[in-house]
Amino acid sequence: MSDIDVLLQEHRLFPPSPAFRAAARVQDTQLQDAAASDPVEFWAREASELTWSKPWDTVMHWTPPHVTWFAGGELNASVNCVDRHIHGSRRNKAAIIWEGEPGDRRTYTYWDVYREVNLAANMLKKLGVVKGDRVAIYLPMIPEAVFAMLACARIGAVHTVVFGGFSPESLRDRINDCGCKVLITADGGYRRGQIVPLKRHADKAVAECPTIEHMLVVMRRRSGVGDEMAAEMQEGRDHWWHRLKRDVPRECAPEAMSAEDNLFILYTSGTTGKPKGVVHTTGGYMTGVSATSKYVFDLKEEDVYWCTADIGWITGHSYLVYGPLANGATCIVYEGAPDWPEKDRLWEICERYGVTIFYTAPTAIRAFMKWGASYVEKHDLSQLRLLGSVGEPINPEAWMWYHETVGKQHCPIVDTWWQTETGAIMITPLPGVTSTKPGSATTPFPGVRVAVLDSQGDQIGVGGGLLALTHPWPSMLRTIWGDDQRYIDTYFSKWPGRPDLYFAGDGAKRDEDGYLWILGRVDDVLNVAGHRIGTMEVESALVDHPSVAEAAVVGKTHDIKGQAIAAFVTLRNGFTASSSLRDELREHVAMKIGALARPDDILFSADLPKTRSGKIMRRLLRDIAEGRALGDMSTLADATVVDGLRAQYEAQE
Ligand code: PRX
Repeated sequence: MSDIDVLLQEHRLFPPSPAFRAAARVQDTQLQDAAASDPVEFWAREASELTWSKPWDTVMHWTPPHVTWFAGGELNASVNCVDRHIHGSRRNKAAIIWEGEPGDRRTYTYWDVYREVNLAANMLKKLGVVKGDRVAIYLPMIPEAVFAMLACARIGAVHTVVFGGFSPESLRDRINDCGCKVLITADGGYRRGQIVPLKRHADKAVAECPTIEHMLVVMRRRSGVGDEMAAEMQEGRDHWWHRLKRDVPRECAPEAMSAEDNLFILYTSGTTGKPKGVVHTTGGYMTGVSATSKYVFDLKEEDVYWCTADIGWITGHSYLVYGPLANGATCIVYEGAPDWPEKDRLWEICERYGVTIFYTAPTAIRAFMKWGASYVEKHDLSQLRLLGSVGEPINPEAWMWYHETVGKQHCPIVDTWWQTETGAIMITPLPGVTSTKPGSATTPFPGVRVAVLDSQGDQIGVGGGLLALTHPWPSMLRTIWGDDQRYIDTYFSKWPGRPDLYFAGDGAKRDEDGYLWILGRVDDVLNVAGHRIGTMEVESALVDHPSVAEAAVVGKTHDIKGQAIAAFVTLRNGFTASSSLRDELREHVAMKIGALARPDDILFSADLPKTRSGKIMRRLLRDIAEGRALGDMSTLADATVVDGLRAQYEAQE
């Protein structure tokens, strides 16, 4: 039986406990019912919970596939995340509790964050950044990363955060695509006891970034240690964060931003070799992330909330920064690896700060499972009351382990489906209302309309098909930076004549109870340890190596990472396959893109299976990589290629 069949035979049902329900923000289906009949009204009500400096004129205007929300309204995201909390009882509440990997700790109250964001905003101004400019952020998970994002938002600069694990080339391409003026980085960061030399990477990248005028560099190095991080500062271009901070005024008036002004660009992988800059705007995005944080995580004043995602991904943007801070929550931020110095690091942190809400990815849960329950059981996790999962399908076995070993059977699990493009959670249980099923993201969030469609665009009542969102929502992407046609083609052209249907790129099934089961990507996008990687990106990195003539990349099931990368490579004349060349190619991909894209397997082959018109048949390569029976081979130009590859693959395993 395939994994999917196992998943779909899951019938266990876990209702919220009466105690959880009785205290939950949402306890019945009224909210969902009202939102179902009038989603626009629902979102307008949620938007009105934000602080606006000017009210909007029109809630929504939809000319498919382009939308505006709250047109005419003005607000500032940093005011909503910080300023509005400093006048009342939250002024001295912890906003960020941070722990560095080596064990250093800092706590910032809302007042502290207010000061830091104002100072950082003035630093950017001093470097010449004005409203609408783009600023790249390439930082480890340190509090300054949050301050930098909010500082951009405060002055109306558009941030683009680049994950610290990306290579200099990936950083360069992102900076150049959107023409950033300033890059905010650090001398380095700590990861599994090692130092990630971010400034050196940044220097390499910026050497080929003509638009960068300045670099603002946070000193992460702890005094007396980490000299390996020593950064070379280029006079006039580079500025230490802590020094510049002394030279700027303490207060920075927030820019009044139109609801539809851009808040940030975040690059994500698609089906071509070039990542796309997903554009999010201010009013709609803030409405989406603030409402979902409140209802999905059932956020209460006294909660200690921890989303383990890195700010380099959308989950870090929406559920580590903008959503929880808009709700005045206390958030944990941790810099390093979950198994450093021991495999109980996360549970130690949960215990130390009394974490009540914990949001992580299935890939992490599967790693915890493998390491064993003893690491969890060593710690008192009695404060935990809600668990979340995001980023990839969670298999029922991992769900049950999370429920029993971490949640001690009393914490509801919210399995949340969404994407960089959706900005906020779209399909999820409401923890005080929904009975959950292990492996199912359950039902749409209030105000979100979802359909499972066949290739003609007809609704599938019960059964599998393509996942679509059928009504605009406030936090949807507005375009792809510099390429609106790609926006239209990728998301709104799947069903001809229906530019109102958003194609998510995922397969899904609806069961007899109306529950949704996400089946994974149906396009050439891989999900490796919860990170999106395009097969074409890895292929381009491989063919960039002088030995490679042609490459085809597919995903193969992996116990922990969900998917791993398998590459089939044909070499140019004069090069011979060897294990050292295999290692070299793996490193080449890591160097070009980042370690997250390093292939697990590389198979050298004289030929790749192609159709008569010369298209590589990835489907057959997936069958080979997964060790499955081969599918339809009737369109193959030369069937013997496949037999040869399979024999070779099995011999290598
Ligand atoms: O395939 C789906 C998977 O992650 C993709 C989106 O990736 P990204 O834009 O990087 O955002 C990840 C964090 C929101 C989706 O197309 N995905 C995300 N959440 C789930 C999921 N698959 C199954 N279940 C989920 N809960």
